[in-house]
Amino acid sequence: MKVLLLCGGEGTRLRPFTHSIPKQLLPVVNKPILYHILEWVATRTSLREMVLVTGENQRIFQQTVGDGSNWGLTISYVYQPRPLGLAHAVLTAEAALGKDPFLMYLGDNLLEESLQEYLAVFEKKRLDCLLFLRKVPDPENYGIAEIEDDRVLRVMEKPEKPPSNLALSGLYLFSPAIFQSIRNISPSARGELEITDAIQNLLDRKKRVEYRLLTGWWLDTGSPNALLEANRRLLQKVTPVSLGRIINSQVGGGLHLEKESLIENSKINGPVYIGTGCLIKDSTIGPWVTVGDGGTVTGSTLKNSILFSGVRMENYALHQSIIGHRALLAGKHRSDQTAALPPQPFSRLLLGDDGVVS
Ligand code: DAU
Repeated sequence: MKVLLLCGGEGTRLRPFTHSIPKQLLPVVNKPILYHILEWVATRTSLREMVLVTGENQRIFQQTVGDGSNWGLTISYVYQPRPLGLAHAVLTAEAALGKDPFLMYLGDNLLEESLQEYLAVFEKKRLDCLLFLRKVPDPENYGIAEIEDDRVLRVMEKPEKPPSNLALSGLYLFSPAIFQSIRNISPSARGELEITDAIQNLLDRKKRVEYRLLTGWWLDTGSPNALLEANRRLLQKVTPVSLGRIINSQVGGGLHLEKESLIENSKINGPVYIGTGCLIKDSTIGPWVTVGDGGTVTGSTLKNSILFSGVRMENYALHQSIIGHRALLAGKHRSDQTAALPPQPFSRLLLGDDGVVS
């Protein structure tokens, strides 16, 4: 069985960040989302062969993850010339996948639990499709399944009036029967060949489709708020460690401080991750903050935010923010004379790579 990892698409909901980086390569806790996925495959499954579908930016993926050997995986690449839908991406990879069943994984999804036991169930029961469902508060934003007992009755993509709150997560097990079903469907109203329609076609053809409910957390990181939630989820798993220096500062709640970094005259409310070569001075950081490698934060307050690498931030108060690589944020310096003023109000910023606010 191979893994089909879909990393095409345009990432419009994550602009401005996706103007310069594909969404699957955006960092969460100082590491591209894709690295988290490759680690999951390598440690949580027995699968080692991967087919990675990309759009025009294939070279960036090849440069970032190469042949997968760093993770003990073998990655081959398939080029999808235009993002014409998930089912279209599957069809593009048909020759690379061959006649074996496969695990399809959407490259912007993160999952906590292992699905290893279901790989065996899928093969033993000779299923054509196994869906992984999760209850969501906003079902209109997902593919949705209607079920009765252990049967899948219907599936539909982002319905206006969802018949259930059970979302199709971005992981699917398929037999090669899916290829014929994709050939049987037409593009949806948004002009895409939907994998959900192909699954409905499997049901219409009386193929063996089953579902399981996910028990751990699952995230589609395709929007800024979801990226921040992924940051919070992954920060919970980070082991507190201090490889850098801490001077005259207060630290509580779990700090991961990488080497060559300095925290001075500051307060850290974990969970907080601070990358390599950072300077944190006269600041209050956390909870739920990642400062990427080479970041400088002075005279600032930061909570529930992600700074990509190389950000410089002076005299700013941010919450629920994502700041792109090498961006510069320079607020007003508050000298001793202004210390009696009320604290700076928090701003929420989504600032792309190399952005400047001063
Ligand atoms: O996250 C779960 C949801 O993912 C499911 O509930 C939906 O049924 C499913 O359609 C999908 O919806 P999204 O709108 O979130 O899909 P998105 O366009 O974000 O694409 C998911 C991944 O697939 C992403 O890594 C980009 C990649 N992709 C997307 C398209 C449209 C491709 O590789 N090729 C494509 O043509």
